Amino acid sequence: MNTMTDNGHAATLRLFFALWPPAGLADGLAAMADAAVRRCGGRISRRENIHLTLAFLGERPAAALPALAEAGRRVAATSFELCIDRLGFWRHNQLLWAGCAPSSGLDALVAQLGAALAAAGGPAPERQHPFKSHLTLARKLPPATRAADIAGFLRADLPTWPCTRFTLTASCLSPAGPSYTPLAEFPLMPGFES
Ligand code: 2AM
Repeated sequence: MNTMTDNGHAATLRLFFALWPPAGLADGLAAMADAAVRRCGGRISRRENIHLTLAFLGERPAAALPALAEAGRRVAATSFELCIDRLGFWRHNQLLWAGCAPSSGLDALVAQLGAALAAAGGPAPERQHPFKSHLTLARKLPPATRAADIAGFLRADLPTWPCTRFTLTASCLSPAGPSYTPLAEFPLMPGFES
């Protein structure tokens, strides 16, 4: 939880690095989530919240922000395209997610970011083991949800996702759901490779 210092600034921030889909793709993903939740139940992710986490840092002191932003700037990875081609359900956290076809560009970005964060010092990023790239579309689906219940909601007409930048973002949790604030943005080098 964020705590406030005497001067009203947050002493810690819940931070993560992420990729954010362009508007057309986010629309398609939100429509898929809406349809699946109408059928199965659960709580949909707001369209503007849909993202792919590259590294989750957890609670960090606000004073660590400059070093974290510098780590992001040190990442020398190339832009790439992602193709969302799968839907999944994790029973352990009742989460409906979208995933992408394997991408060497994504793998390289995650690896480079991990190396830059390690070089910057501080605690290692928290990991869901093993790292599984995903975009959370809805939470709290019934545990009894089966793969067959959600399979039909994957849309075949989703646009490909040109990944040209990533962000360092703060997450604020509330009963109404998370809200995310981008703090810094990092361009990827031109040149597509997937
Ligand atoms: P989730 O959507 O699967 O919960 C902001 O909370 C982002 O960080 C979300 O993408 C969330 O993934 C991810 N996240 C939260 N806790 C995490 C953890 N312990 N390890 C890895 N990612 C985490």
